[in-house]
Amino acid sequence: MKIVTTVQEVRQQVAEWRKQGLTVGLVPTMGYLHEGHASLIDRSVSENDRTVVSDFVNPMQFGPTEDLQTYPRDIDHDAALVEAHGGDLIFHPEPSEMYHEGFSSFVDMTVLTQELCGLSRPVHFRGVCTVVTKLFNIVQPDAAYFGKKDAQQLAVIRHMVDDLNMNLRIVGCPIVREADGLAKSSRNTYLSAEERQAALVLSQSIRLGSDMVHNGTTDCAAIISAMQEHINTQPLAKIDYVKIVDAATMQPIPTLDRPALCAIAVYIGKTRLIDNFFTEDV
Ligand code: PAJ
Repeated sequence: MKIVTTVQEVRQQVAEWRKQGLTVGLVPTMGYLHEGHASLIDRSVSENDRTVVSDFVNPMQFGPTEDLQTYPRDIDHDAALVEAHGGDLIFHPEPSEMYHEGFSSFVDMTVLTQELCGLSRPVHFRGVCTVVTKLFNIVQPDAAYFGKKDAQQLAVIRHMVDDLNMNLRIVGCPIVREADGLAKSSRNTYLSAEERQAALVLSQSIRLGSDMVHNGTTDCAAIISAMQEHINTQPLAKIDYVKIVDAATMQPIPTLDRPALCAIAVYIGKTRLIDNFFTEDV
């Protein structure tokens, strides 16, 4: 397993693999890797001859008041995890390697990004689409692996790949959770012991909503208000949104008459956490 920091080194390595006729999977991450990331690496390793993991806290996808400076970083831990899961290369660039002086080209998207997290994080998806496009161009993988944990991100990337004729497969992987249900996230490290306990309202309300769907409820307003009510029982929790949207377009729907995504974002103290379920997985 190798760690490289420049675009040129990635290209050289991938070119060597291609000469040998090997397939390449890409797992884009912002590092501080946990078992959620590991599940994407496992999937890529099982489906490709070689796996590249990008490890880059992308400044462009953070808003001015967000946690870019405090976002946790630990490349030694990440390297050990990637090695243990059979990854072959970590691309760990400095921001200046990805965004040279005078950088001025962006990949942006309308419609899908104007719902859910796009409303409270207006520059976020432009930053995600731009960096992911760059990573696709640098690595030119056969497939790239994304978690359903960031369901809107997955939908946005699928749409971008389709719109812009990008030549790779996008693979969506299930949410990995802690034993008590909390979705694994690098941001969970921000939580105090009390907040960590309070954060269980997210997965509990997801469970409540998916049980309602499982039992045949199709009225989105009824599902949303039951979930909101449960979250509001926790004094440390402040709802950003609880929404049910069309799984492909991300537009809110009143009735479950097509594949849908139920997504929530909740502040626990100062930490914003997300969780979701797809009705097709219920
Ligand atoms: P990051 O938050 O590091 O997540 C990297 C990938 O891991 C994403 O596809 C995310 O959905 C997946 N992931 C995170 N937690 C997960 C969990 N509990 N279960 C399953 N998958 C999980 O998402 C990003 O980075 C960035 O926006 C990125 C795509 C790398 C662009 O900068």
